[in-house]
Amino acid sequence: MVDRSRPGHYNATLLEKRDLSERYFLMILSRPPDLADPGPGSFIHLLVPGEKRFFLRRPFSVLDCDESTLTLIIVEKGAGTRIMRRLPVGENLDFIGPLGSSFPELPGKRVLAVGGGVGLAPLYYYHRLMSATRDTDLYRLLYGARTRTDLFIGNFDWSIENVDFSTDDGTYGFSGNVVQLAEREIERSQVDVIFSCGPTPMLKSVAALARTKRITHHVSLENRMACGMGACRSCVVPVRIDSTACHRTVCKDGPVFNADDLVWEELPEI
Ligand SMILES: Cc1cc2nc3c(=O)[nH]c(=O)nc-3n(C[C@H](O)[C@H](O)[C@H](O)COP(=O)(O)OP(=O)(O)OC[C@H]3O[C@@H](n4cnc5c(N)ncnc54)[C@H](O)[C@@H]3O)c2cc1C
Ligand code: FES
Repeated sequence: MVDRSRPGHYNATLLEKRDLSERYFLMILSRPPDLADPGPGSFIHLLVPGEKRFFLRRPFSVLDCDESTLTLIIVEKGAGTRIMRRLPVGENLDFIGPLGSSFPELPGKRVLAVGGGVGLAPLYYYHRLMSATRDTDLYRLLYGARTRTDLFIGNFDWSIENVDFSTDDGTYGFSGNVVQLAEREIERSQVDVIFSCGPTPMLKSVAALARTKRITHHVSLENRMACGMGACRSCVVPVRIDSTACHRTVCKDGPVFNADDLVWEELPEI
């Protein structure tokens, strides 16, 4: 019998690739039938096809998943993602997953999700899963970018409720950064818990805001990875658990952490 509760090693077909903006694109893969249901925050560890020099897999959060497809949102960053952007539809992709922890289910709590860049993936997926089962009024997603084109308005299916945008240059939505928008939201309405995912400087600002407002904060981190399964410890981050300083792996203990456990001033910025 197939065990759908554990990560596995899979092959999938690239069904569709769609540019969202100059730097961002979607990859829609076929979902292997025995793939465990990914949680919002979990990721797949994908091999860049073709070239042997890319022996390290690349981690990508799940943006969406249904019975037949698995969708990723990717920003072109270095050599690996540049190749992925140019892959033809029909390409065979090798991945391990789903890996890592997820944002917690919090029935009845009012969650404010704060995202930037590809940090959209787990926060959007959480919303999609939640809208199938629970009251979406309890979940508000704030998404920020430098400028309107990086919000991919018009190129992305934003048909979810309770989403607000910010742009640093004021070309769309709230004028300012997404943390300032979060601060305004907290002043206007009750927020029990904050979720965040995005660039590390943004996460640090969200953590400072959550501390000031005494709001529980769960954060999804990135770090460079090798094995992706907790064995090599190349992805550890400093934490403090019960006043004891130690390390936790982003790939297995995370990527989602309780922000109070992290030693923010020593967190790597990658
Ligand atoms: C849990 C997790 C979820 C992620 N989800 C997404 C996502 O949904 N969409 C997306 O576009 N990106 C995501 N990333 C970042 C993504 O993995 C990197 O942008 C990507 O690996 C860069 O590969 P590259 O070959 O283009 O870049 P290069 O800079 O050429 O990569 C060189 C090496 O550094 C590693 N690396 C570089 N940047 C990062 C980074 N930010 N995080 C981790 N490893 C890095 C690469 O994996 C590779 O091993 C995620 C990272 C983590 C840890
Ligand atoms: S990547 Fe090996 S332990 Fe996290």
